[in-house]
Amino acid sequence: VTSPTPVKPAQAARRYDLVAPWYGMNAWLGAGVAREAIERAQVRPGERVLELGVGTGRDLIALARRVGGAPDGTVLGLDQARGMVRRARRRIAHGDAIHLIRGDAGRIPARSASWDLVFMSRVLDLMDADQIPVVLGECRRVLRIGGRLVLVNMSKPDERLTLFERLYARGWGFGGGLFLSRPVLAAPFVRAAGFTDVERVYRRGFPMGSEIILARRPS
Ligand SMILES: C[S@@+](CC[C@H](N)C(=O)[O-])C[C@H]1O[C@@H](n2cnc3c(N)ncnc32)[C@H](O)[C@@H]1O
Repeated sequence: VTSPTPVKPAQAARRYDLVAPWYGMNAWLGAGVAREAIERAQVRPGERVLELGVGTGRDLIALARRVGGAPDGTVLGLDQARGMVRRARRRIAHGDAIHLIRGDAGRIPARSASWDLVFMSRVLDLMDADQIPVVLGECRRVLRIGGRLVLVNMSKPDERLTLFERLYARGWGFGGGLFLSRPVLAAPFVRAAGFTDVERVYRRGFPMGSEIILARRPS
């Protein structure tokens, strides 16, 4: 059961453009789980890593540090909000193996089978249930055979509706409507998109828990 998103994708894009200057605080709250996900991703020197929905770029440096030290190692970050790309760009030092572009995770401007790892933190939980398969299909397309998908999502222990979702269903935005996401259980979507070796780890948190999903593109 996937609840509807509190706002529509076009509104979300505008909202992220506006909140970019203050988003760092929210990004800081989710930093621990993102760090764990990056550890679990086992990024190796020389790998090609694509991050979708980079926000202010909190995870770009950690990813780049791991792929660096080998000539082919590269990180490409993508976000649809101009304000976020601008913020993320400020974190990058000259010489980092990081490139940033503005774009839609539902139409990734990258060649098929060209990335070792796709990392995406707190993006699917913003998307309507019919948009999630489109984005995961794109992740699968751009990953090489055997490539890994690593996701972090706002989530919940099981399918039961949380208080948070009930409030949304009554039209009560949480935090004055500042929060745009709702908890998702992404593993079934990941399997349906044709990924294998799907693993889920759940971490409790406030106001909502998080899940880390690891999966692999099969041959
Ligand atoms: C909740 S923030 C997460 C940012 C960061 N990854 C983190 O974990 O803190 C979601 C980000 O995804 C971006 N985003 C949402 N939908 C997107 C899409 N279809 N394509 C690309 N970026 C998208 C938003 O602009 C925003 O920067």
